[in-house]
Amino acid sequence: MGEYLKPEVHVFDNLKNASQALAETIVKEASEAVEKRGQFNLALSGGKTPLSLYRLMAKDYSKKINWETVHLFWGDERFVPKEHPENNFAMAYHNLISKVPLPSQNIHPIQSEIETPERAAESYEETLRDFFRDSERETSYTFDAILLGVGEDGHAASLFPGSPALKEKSRWAVAVDAPASFLTKARITLTLPVINISRDVFFLVSGDKKGNIVSSILKDPERARDLYPAAMIEAKERLVWYVDGRTLNISGKGSYHE
Ligand code: 6PG
Repeated sequence: MGEYLKPEVHVFDNLKNASQALAETIVKEASEAVEKRGQFNLALSGGKTPLSLYRLMAKDYSKKINWETVHLFWGDERFVPKEHPENNFAMAYHNLISKVPLPSQNIHPIQSEIETPERAAESYEETLRDFFRDSERETSYTFDAILLGVGEDGHAASLFPGSPALKEKSRWAVAVDAPASFLTKARITLTLPVINISRDVFFLVSGDKKGNIVSSILKDPERARDLYPAAMIEAKERLVWYVDGRTLNISGKGSYHE
């Protein structure tokens, strides 16, 4: 089945090294995007894994990114107030946005303080469609890059196994309920139609409970697509995994293509 993009896989000794390598890639991606199209549109992921990446971008790599030309979006958001500890925007704000000279008009958060998650999803979709319609870019691309993590159930963004959102074919953002085991159930997530037309998708994964899922996605993607939403993610140009080797129970650094 050759119609799927072959992933690039980079395995590191630990999350710090994986985050460092991804930060370097983001710097390179940003400079290429700005050179070719005048801006770099990046969608951030939530959760805990990207914390060290965002801190690196805000500190060690901050001067290598022309923040004036960067636009930030989110892959998903929990429907909690902006300052709530579970809020993905808050995590990115405190660890990255508040420390770099990013113009406020370049920050496009998912509204989590309006009347309902459904309204928040509609509003975010309007924002995205206006943004990408107005740019000079071909309409067949959305983000230049989107960062994603993988949950211990194989979810990506807030696309959970068995969710009706996985069948969404036209809407770009929907309101979903996370499984009962999650602290914040009400969420808004990007859908596959908009994620999968990003130029590049970067997974950053750490956490020993995810080893079997990540291995299954990389070694048997066909079967994994039926089980894990993270396996349903595609990209228009590059699909790249930055993996903490402990996650895959693989020691040492290495890169390989499936
Ligand atoms: C979220 C994230 C989600 C995350 C995974 C992994 O809002 O929770 O977007 O998709 O990437 O749940 O989370 P950790 O990085 O905390 O393991």
